[in-house]
Amino acid sequence: MKTTLLITGVAGFIGSKIAKKALEKGFEVIGIDDLSSGKKEQIPTGLEFYAYDLSDKSLVNQLPAKVDYILHLAGQSSGEISFDNPISDLKKNTHSTINLIQFGIKNKVKKILYASSMSVYGEVKDIPISEKQEALPLSCYGVGKRASEQYLSIFGDQLPYIIYRMFNVYGPGQDLTNMRQGMVSIFLSQALQSNTILVKGSLDRFRDFIYIDDVVDCWLKGVELNELKNLTVNLGTGERTELGDLVRVISRHFDQPSITVEGSTPGDQFGIYADTSLLKESFQIEQLTSLKEGMKNFANWAKSQ
Ligand SMILES: NC(=O)c1ccc[n+]([C@@H]2O[C@H](COP(=O)([O-])OP(=O)(O)OC[C@H]3O[C@@H](n4cnc5c(N)ncnc54)[C@H](O)[C@@H]3O)[C@@H](O)[C@H]2O)c1
Repeated sequence: MKTTLLITGVAGFIGSKIAKKALEKGFEVIGIDDLSSGKKEQIPTGLEFYAYDLSDKSLVNQLPAKVDYILHLAGQSSGEISFDNPISDLKKNTHSTINLIQFGIKNKVKKILYASSMSVYGEVKDIPISEKQEALPLSCYGVGKRASEQYLSIFGDQLPYIIYRMFNVYGPGQDLTNMRQGMVSIFLSQALQSNTILVKGSLDRFRDFIYIDDVVDCWLKGVELNELKNLTVNLGTGERTELGDLVRVISRHFDQPSITVEGSTPGDQFGIYADTSLLKESFQIEQLTSLKEGMKNFANWAKSQ
């Protein structure tokens, strides 16, 4: 009998890519998305789809019970937007997680994989940040992610989990119309539309940019490797990239776009990059896609849209 994955956020950037790869690998996939920001066209064909809001417990209880693994990616995904309506953010990110934990326990699901974020760490020193770092989030989004992590941990003896603290994920499929989420996609979209890039905050800020295909691989390994459970792991590359360098890498694919630096973003961290020792050891990772290579693929895809 086929293994069934329940993948949430399946109309979004990362969830849709994981679902597509899972179907190619022969998994049965049940996909959920309330289409609040995700797009129906993004959902891969071949899965059973439910347009449910996961913060509504009565809807979660109507989902098919035969599920082996839950891959939970649905949620409000922008730190900036989380300040507009913190209650809505809490429902989308934390209530949804609690509902899925209860569903998972009731239906004897083998493991739940959760999309957390480097936002849980808050302001940190300029060193590779390990999972042992104290979590002091700066945004409502980060608080909701951290709370979800703690709920997962409390119920971990009944429902084993993997928490992925994802750093900045980028690549083909990212929403080029949402100018409030996704640093790389925002800059790329601006360069495409007007040959200008507006950076809200210093070019000295730094991040860790991880390519979508590498993220998809690590999520599916999380399903396949039984020994990985009750684990919180950074999902980044370990590479420290300053925004000035990111903008230069993007600019190579355009006609010398003009760069403007002004303003700031609420809840923004100045700089963070991952200590990837645990990731590399647990997921047997040898090589990840370089920013240069990943950006070439992303820019080519964006130009073809
Ligand atoms: N993209 C990144 O760099 C990044 C980094 C760290 C963590 N994450 C997390 O990973 C997950 C996926 O990110 P993404 O970039 O694909 O985001 P996305 O916004 O493209 O996808 C999220 C999807 O969840 C759906 N959704 C929102 N609330 C829902 C609800 N209550 N019920 C059902 N569906 C709901 C949206 O419609 C959307 O399709 C998110 O939880 C995000 O917070 C993303």
